[in-house]
Amino acid sequence: MDKIRGVVLAGGLGNRLLPVTKVTNKHLLPVYDRPMIFYPIQTLINAGIEEILLVTGGQHAGDFLQLLGNGTELGIRKLQYTYQEGEGGIADALSLAEDFADGGKICVILGDNIIQRNIRGAARAYAEQSDGAKILLKEVPDPERFGVAETDGDRVANIVEKPANPASSLAVIGIYFYDSVVFDIIRPLKPSQRGELEITDVNNAYLKKGNLTFDVLDGWWTDAGTFESLHRASNLVHDGGANLVD
Ligand code: DAU
Repeated sequence: MDKIRGVVLAGGLGNRLLPVTKVTNKHLLPVYDRPMIFYPIQTLINAGIEEILLVTGGQHAGDFLQLLGNGTELGIRKLQYTYQEGEGGIADALSLAEDFADGGKICVILGDNIIQRNIRGAARAYAEQSDGAKILLKEVPDPERFGVAETDGDRVANIVEKPANPASSLAVIGIYFYDSVVFDIIRPLKPSQRGELEITDVNNAYLKKGNLTFDVLDGWWTDAGTFESLHRASNLVHDGGANLVD
């Protein structure tokens, strides 16, 4: 079974949480009783991922070092850090992980994504997948806020980023499995209308190649990048706990 390394993306400027993010990084804000960044890290650890790269940015990047140190307190075997200049998008932040990935497979998780259960099954399935990518989908009431996937049997037919008229209610959640081809896909990408290198363009490139698989996530999933979703995330964690292992 191939080893999978983990990449947590915690760059971006958190403008949707101003003025709070004027004085701290969004991913250091509390979600119920822990800093937001603890949750995606725990998701990776629970999936058996032992080496993690944290990509951050902005003016408060040093606070991550103070919080996480070398990672042993959280159970990370090897923790590395890197810094994203500006806010060029999720795929731009991911491009910084090329050396860390060292030609192997990676699991990428957005720093504001929190799940109730675990992704062990998906990680195992991806470790056995010969090449390509795997994404995770979740039915949501507000798909227009996310990347939205149209499926056709066991394949993804199309993904659209924040569509005004979503073709389904299946959101592409912020946990992605990639092989090393991802960095070749990112290199020629052009910024979208919002000025970012879009992860949806990366996923559509795999789709075109015909080696994008998907699973539907068990349990609840939320992002925490707006006041509304941050509040919801705290309530969900308080009511039922997050990152359950069974
Ligand atoms: O939460 C899932 C959604 O995340 C997906 O359904 C969308 O397809 C995907 O584009 C993304 O949408 P958002 O617009 O909500 O992403 P946001 O800009 O809030 O960024 C999410 C995280 O990605 C953020 O917490 C940190 C990281 N990030 C983002 C940007 C723009 C970076 O590390 N660097 C960046 O430049």
